[in-house]
Order: sequence, then C-alpha cells, then structure tokens
Amino acid sequence: MTLFVASVSGLASADYDERQIEAWLSAVGDSQGWRSRLANGMTLVAEVESVIAGFIAFSSQGHVDLLFTLSEFARCGVASHLYRQAEERLRRTGVGVVDTEASKVAQPFFETMGFKTIEKEVVEVAGVALARFRMRKKLSKP
Ligand SMILES: CC(C)(COP(=O)(O)OP(=O)(O)OC[C@H]1O[C@@H](n2cnc3c(N)ncnc32)[C@H](O)[C@@H]1OP(=O)(O)O)[C@@H](O)C(=O)NCCC(=O)NCCS
Repeated sequence: MTLFVASVSGLASADYDERQIEAWLSAVGDSQGWRSRLANGMTLVAEVESVIAGFIAFSSQGHVDLLFTLSEFARCGVASHLYRQAEERLRRTGVGVVDTEASKVAQPFFETMGFKTIEKEVVEVAGVALARFRMRKKLSKP
C-alpha cells in the first residue's frame, strides 16, 4: 500500500488532477479489500537492493489487476520485467489473452508490451470520474 501511494502520487500527476488522485488513493484505507483482492491471484514483487521497487498482481485467467512502480525507479524497466514474468507464467498455463484496465499513465506502457486499446471508459471512484482504457493482448502458444 505504501508503494501504491508513492507510485500514484509520484507518477500520475501529469495525467490526473488532484481530486482524481485523491479518489484513486482512497482505496488505501481498505486493508481487508486489498487482502481479498491480492488473495484472488498471484502477486510478483520486484526488489532493487532490498527496496520494493514495484509489484504486479494478476489472475490465473489473465487479468492484470495491479501494476505499480515506485517513482524513483520509473523508466528503469521494473514494470516490463514484472509484466514479462507474469506473461510467461500465464502463457505456460495456456492462457490465450491478457487484459487490463490501464490508467492514462499506464496506457503507453501496455502498448509497448504489445497490448491494443479496446475502448476508453470512465469509472466513478469515491464520487470522482476517472478515465481509463480497456486493453488486451493475445498471447502466442507456448
Ligand atoms: C505504468 C508504470 C507501471 C510503468 O512502470 P515503469 O517501471 O516505469 O515501466 P518501464 O520502465 O518498464 O517502461 C517500459 C516501457 O514502457 C513505456 N513507458 C513506460 N512509462 C511510460 C510513460 N510514462 N510514458 C510513455 N511511455 C512509457 C516506454 O516505452 C518504456 O520504455 P523506455 O523507458 O525505454 O522508453 C508506472 O508508470 C506506474 O506505476 N504508474 C503509476 C501507477 C499506474 O498507473 N499503474 C497502472 C495502473 S493500471
């Protein structure tokens, strides 16, 4: 949760205004909600010299639920490494499609990873409208 707060606060301000960031961060108080969200799938954590630099959480069906990099490590390949590890695991278990709802910040990242944008959607979080993109990627057979 600490990484989530630092990542959103540090990396999302160019794409979302203050109210939107506050709303996005409102999920942070709900530790039970996070526990059950993380219990649903697999989480991989990236460590750089004992610092947790990022994490990815994804379901066994191929849905990427969470992906966050600490701002100090942005554009150093942390998320790419995490995503590739996740994709490799999914591919090995026969998953054919990976999907996600990407923030505006993450959309270019997922495009780089080979995802296509299906549609833009606006969701309401804590009473505030947040834009995001439904994206998917077809995986080749192992
Ligand atoms: C999106 C996010 C996870 C990317 O993490 P990262 O560790 O910086 O990503 P990487 O260093 O692996 O980036 C790999 C490539 O993706 C693309 N990319 C990543 N961030 C980008 C950005 N802000 N703008 C444009 N392209 C970007 C680039 O092609 C990059 O390669 P390059 O740095 O050699 O140009 C990170 O910005 C983040 O945590 N953002 C805030 C939270 C968020 O939006 N999470 C996603 C929720 S859906």
